[in-house]
Amino acid sequence: MLRTVVCVSGGGTNLQAIIDGIRQGSVSDVQIVRVVSNNKNAYALERAAQAGIDAVCVSPRDYADREQFNEALLREVDAAAPDLVVLAGFLVVIPPALIRKYENRIINIHPSLIPSFCGTGYYGLKVHEAVLARGVKVTGATVHFVDEGTDTGPIIMQKPVAVMEGDTPEVLQRRVMEEAEWIILPESLNLIAGGKVKVSAGRVSIAE
Ligand code: GAR
Repeated sequence: MLRTVVCVSGGGTNLQAIIDGIRQGSVSDVQIVRVVSNNKNAYALERAAQAGIDAVCVSPRDYADREQFNEALLREVDAAAPDLVVLAGFLVVIPPALIRKYENRIINIHPSLIPSFCGTGYYGLKVHEAVLARGVKVTGATVHFVDEGTDTGPIIMQKPVAVMEGDTPEVLQRRVMEEAEWIILPESLNLIAGGKVKVSAGRVSIAE
């Protein structure tokens, strides 16, 4: 069983996709042992409660400074003794100590085809706004391992999604979620749990 901590900040639809994948059997040998949110109002916490998953909130507002928040975050992740940490819409700068401790054991879902529309400042709707402003015809989503850069780690899976005439950022965001994110995130977890994902020299190879 791959003990998995899922970190969230908002709606938690990607968390839900993992929960559903485990329930339906398309994701095997994965157990979500804890959900961690930086936002006590995140609907993702409600989703965790409904699924009977242990959930904690670590909010920067409850700590004197960033360092204390970072320490608390690391403590709450460590306490669940995870094999893997999934950032599923977790809009927090990940503390370097966490990244070092869980090298190649943290994955992130990003709502574009990296290396386009990623890096500092590109998160949530802002990504889709930038896609529409540039006028690209294809976007998508990427699952990657987290390293010390922003959206620079080894890429595990990507899936393209068409941009349509008349799209708003909200409409495009929904299509990218439905056609890409909710598919490749559970699939990546399934591959990792099955021992099929190897990282070497900054690149991922996937065994048949
Ligand atoms: C998702 O679109 C995810 O890809 C994005 O935030 C959204 C969270 O939605 N993450 C980023 O932009 C990270 N840079 P959710 O809470 O419904 O899963």
